[in-house]
Amino acid sequence: MTQTELVPGLAGIPAAESSISFINGQEGLLSYRGIRIEELAAHSNFEEVICLLWDGTLPTQAALDAFKERLRPHSKLHPDLERFVRALPLQGHPMEALQASLATLGMVSPRVDLRDPVARLDACLRTMGAVSTLIAAAERHRKGLPLVEPDPNLSIAGNFLYCLNGERPDAIKTRVLDCALVLHAEHTMNASTFACRVVASTETNPYTATSAAVGALYGPLHGGANERVLVQLESIGGPENVSAWVDKKMAAKEKVMGFGHRVYKTKDPRAKNLQILARELFEIHGSTPLYDTALRLEEEVTARLGGKGIYPNVDFFSGIVYQKLGIPTDVFTPIFALSRMAGWLAHWMEQMEDNKLFRPGQIYTGRKDVSYVPIGQRSAAGK
Ligand code: SDX
Repeated sequence: MTQTELVPGLAGIPAAESSISFINGQEGLLSYRGIRIEELAAHSNFEEVICLLWDGTLPTQAALDAFKERLRPHSKLHPDLERFVRALPLQGHPMEALQASLATLGMVSPRVDLRDPVARLDACLRTMGAVSTLIAAAERHRKGLPLVEPDPNLSIAGNFLYCLNGERPDAIKTRVLDCALVLHAEHTMNASTFACRVVASTETNPYTATSAAVGALYGPLHGGANERVLVQLESIGGPENVSAWVDKKMAAKEKVMGFGHRVYKTKDPRAKNLQILARELFEIHGSTPLYDTALRLEEEVTARLGGKGIYPNVDFFSGIVYQKLGIPTDVFTPIFALSRMAGWLAHWMEQMEDNKLFRPGQIYTGRKDVSYVPIGQRSAAGK
């Protein structure tokens, strides 16, 4: 079947069959393996959600304990990988460091026999186990601080905060981060998951496929929006400035970071849950003027653009939560990558089960039957 009409950005075009997650964009619903995100945010945890995404069902206590046991050793970095992280340039973005580190993780890991499901799972455990340590280690290196060895008794969320800050994280902050990781873990065929599946379809290993996904997530139209939302809120300077700021944005035809979505045409359910987390943190650690500005911005933008289906997305409140957890702004997107690693690896495994190389077509708009002109006879106009 040849598609003759271009669909920009492949909007709404099915790229695969998948049973991992589902979105109803009109009603603002998201579920992982059929379980609503609100249920998982309220009752589950990130390790359990990884099992749900990878295996298709919630684990028993024994299965969850066995998963944690198998994941645990991989949070410790291979010596060559640690040396690599210590050699990273101090400038550049933490997402660039993560993308390079994942490809390097592949260099120090066993070759993956893609025909062997045990080898495939092992490579996924190595990738999932290392990612939080890689992000924290790169940040410690950038700050000129000694790397912190992960504590095998802590959860992924707890270990991330421990390896980042070098001190035992408090229970509330750990639980809030864990819930944020649950909320960001999976989201059907978004740009970075699509990138992961395209690279997976050439029969690469999960290290290179997720490294490609990190590259896609980094962009400001995708995961990179969360850090830009915070910069945006700080630049507005307070709720009283919101209306004039939105006037200027609209006049310049510029997009407001943290709003709009290719699929959701109502408020992103994850934004609602992140707002709840923000308020929980404020009760203990005090509020922030940024939250008041965010609420006023939401009111203003939805009043003007709600009719076009433009509402807050997952990136709108996440930065306020991460800032309250003491996380540097340009580490927000790496946290998104830490969480989405669970979904990317679920999609990598699903692609490997019934793989078909991605090779879409195009609509050619160039010239035809052009003769070769020897260089001495060419004019600058190239005509
Ligand atoms: C994520 O796909 C996923 O699932 C992604 C994600 C996930 O979990 O993986 O949910 C995570 O990436 C969330 C999105 C984070 N990005 C941002 O917050 C950046 C700002 N948002 C926009 O860039 C935009 O909303 C997109 C890219 C997210 C979606 O845009 P579309 O579907 O490509 O729509 P479009 O750019 O063609 O815009 C349609 C109209 C345009 O106006 P008109 O030309 O028709 O007059 O809506 C306007 C746009 O100008 N519009 C916005 C806007 N988003 C769309 N106007 C102002 N501000 C915005 N944020």
